[in-house]
Amino acid sequence: MSALSGKRILLGISGGIAAYKTPELVRRLRDAGATVRVVMTQAATAFITPLTLQATSANPVHTALLDHAAEAGMGHIELSRWADAVLVAPATADLMARLAVGMADDLLTTLCLCLPTRTLLCLAPAMNHVMWAAGATVANRDTLLTRGIHLFGPTHGKQACGETGLGRMEEPIQLVAALERLFVPKLFAGQQFLITAGPTREAIDPVRFLSNRSSGKMGYAIAAAASALGAEVTLVSGPTNLPTPQGASRINVVSAKEMRDAVLDVVNDCRVFIACAAVADYRPVATAPQKIKKKGEQAMTLVLERTEDILATVSGLPRRPFVVGFAAETENLETNALDKLQGKGLDMVVANWVGGDLGFESDDNALQVYWAEGQQILPRASKLDLAYALLEIIANRLPANGSPQLITH
Ligand code: C5P
Repeated sequence: MSALSGKRILLGISGGIAAYKTPELVRRLRDAGATVRVVMTQAATAFITPLTLQATSANPVHTALLDHAAEAGMGHIELSRWADAVLVAPATADLMARLAVGMADDLLTTLCLCLPTRTLLCLAPAMNHVMWAAGATVANRDTLLTRGIHLFGPTHGKQACGETGLGRMEEPIQLVAALERLFVPKLFAGQQFLITAGPTREAIDPVRFLSNRSSGKMGYAIAAAASALGAEVTLVSGPTNLPTPQGASRINVVSAKEMRDAVLDVVNDCRVFIACAAVADYRPVATAPQKIKKKGEQAMTLVLERTEDILATVSGLPRRPFVVGFAAETENLETNALDKLQGKGLDMVVANWVGGDLGFESDDNALQVYWAEGQQILPRASKLDLAYALLEIIANRLPANGSPQLITH
């Protein structure tokens, strides 16, 4: 059964071309068991008719703030109290700006302003990519995020104006899935999770470093999912271009040594440690203080030394959390993963192929999860969906109580 079953969803539609997808969104929400009411801005009615939304939602559509008939039925206060969640899709740049400054100049902004604190407010932005990147929109988005709104998308792709970029509304099926996740029971309420993500960089000189192709997307997806499931997430991240997942507190690091220090600083109170980072195994023995100049030689030798294995260090702590490692492999996936499980003394190892179109820089992945007594294959899916599936496996394997675990070596 969907987590949306029996939920009351108020769909706000503002005036963007993506409004043409909202009847399908309404249908999918209702298929998931939700009751849907629709509020449209005046501009939205230029893109799609209220009658279409009334037919698909099976409820009257609300468009005006100062409408005697509507206020006598369900006015803005009742509508805002009725909803378990408000989803504004599409949310235009204008609508986001009006919400950010707290305007109440139409029905949709007014009811958003008087939402009870328990009600989720979710926005699915849709606009031209230049508008999305504009300083004013970025500032409005950040303001709204600090107030606890949930942002779904936008995604990258072809836009109605003919240009390509980041600004497309998430597809209805994704929006329903994102909303569903917010209603998922808080499996890890109050539990501390420590997650590493991204690559590390090992300096050769002030301008050069050794690194790898990790984008950090898998670790960030796990941090986002764990946080949505109620965990208190600390994300120790190597250099990435990704936004901090909502609810997670992020510690930025660059080198393997910095990542180790940050992890050991906070690991003490953790219930679960997930090492998703692609940590350098070797670093230059010495970092040149100045940029290394080429001389006459055809070859040069860089002497490397091992970095400390953060995962094995945490796993070897006398008082340690539930420890999950990753194994990104280009060959012998299962053997290498099982070696890591045993060799590093892990509770679980998550293996994935890298190379091809899966793994490091991709939005999709496929995982094989191993623990001492079992294994589970998670077929190709988005990294966020896999993160939820992985966390469910972890939840089933976590010792019933005790935080952190007490393990005697
Ligand atoms: O041994 P290998 O590097 O392939 O193991 C990968 C796993 O170990 C990942 O979970 C990675 O985050 C972790 N690791 C670590 N510290 C290192 C190297 C790897 O935590 N120095």
